Amino acid sequence: MFTATTIAEVREGLEPVRRADRCIGFVPTMGALHEGHVSLIRAARRDCAHVVVSIFVNPTQFGPGEDLAKYPRPLEEDLRACREAGTDLVFAPTASEMYRSNAVTTVRVGKLSEPLCGAFRPGHFEGVATVVAKLFNIVMPGRAYFGEKDYQQLVVIRQMVRDLDLPIGIVGCPTVRETGGLAMSSRNRYLSVEQRHQALSLNQALTEARQAVTAGTRDVSMLCDMIRRRILAAGEARMDYVSIVDAASLEALQTVDRPARMCVAVRIGDCRLIDNMPVDVPGAHG
Ligand code: PAF
Repeated sequence: MFTATTIAEVREGLEPVRRADRCIGFVPTMGALHEGHVSLIRAARRDCAHVVVSIFVNPTQFGPGEDLAKYPRPLEEDLRACREAGTDLVFAPTASEMYRSNAVTTVRVGKLSEPLCGAFRPGHFEGVATVVAKLFNIVMPGRAYFGEKDYQQLVVIRQMVRDLDLPIGIVGCPTVRETGGLAMSSRNRYLSVEQRHQALSLNQALTEARQAVTAGTRDVSMLCDMIRRRILAAGEARMDYVSIVDAASLEALQTVDRPARMCVAVRIGDCRLIDNMPVDVPGAHG
C-alpha cells in the first residue's frame, strides 16, 4: 500500500493504473475508520482492480461551533485498517494541499442540499460536494463508494455526478450497524455508555415506524410523532428533525405513497447522530 500526501503523488501513482486501463475504485473518508468504512473498501476491492481511499477531515463541511478541532484523527490505526481491507493507495493530504489560499470556486447541489441536515448545517453539503468533486478530479475513479448512513450526502453526490457529467459510477452501500442496531459512525466514540444505550432508540424508532407502514399506517405526521416519542422516551435528547421524504427528490411527504426515506437527526449530549431507513408501500411508483 502506498501513502500519498500530495496531489502530484496521487496522479503519478495512478498513471500506470490508468494506462493499463484498470478500474479504480475510490472510497472518500474523513478517517476514524470503522466497520462501515471497511465495508466500502471491501466493496471497492470486490469490484475494482485498484482501490484508493482518501483520509481528509474536510474543514469546509464543518460549521462554526461544530466538532472540526476535536474530530478524531487516528492516522496510524486508519492506515492499518486500509491495508488490512486491501487498499492499494491512501491519499492523506493536508488542508493546504487541498485548498489554495485564494480558491473561490465551490460546488452547490441546489435544492437537494437544503432540507434535512442542510437546514441545520448551512454550507455543509456545499463543502462536501466541493471536496468530493476535487477528490474525483484528483483520483479520477471509475466507481466511488458511499454509505447509505449519510443518505442525503449520497443523493447529493449522485446528482452532482449527473449534473457535471462525471464518468463515475456512484455505489451506495448499506448502513453497517453495531450489535443493538446503532448505525456505525466515527462520532459514536463521543458517546458515554449510557448515551450509547439511549442512541439505540434511533434504530428502534425507525424499525417500529417501518412496521407501522407495513401494517397500513401512511400518515407521515403520525409516523413522525411515533418516532419522536420513541426516541424521547429513551432519555434526554434534542431532535434536529424527524422527516419522511421522497427517496429521490428528498421533498417532505404528507403520506407514504411512494418510495420514501425516514430520516432522523438527534443530539444526545454533545453528539449529533443521524440515521435513516427506506420505506416502500406495495404498488407505489417511484
Ligand atoms: O462522508 C464523509 O466522510 C465525508 O462527508 C466525505 C464524503 C469524505 C467528504 O469529506
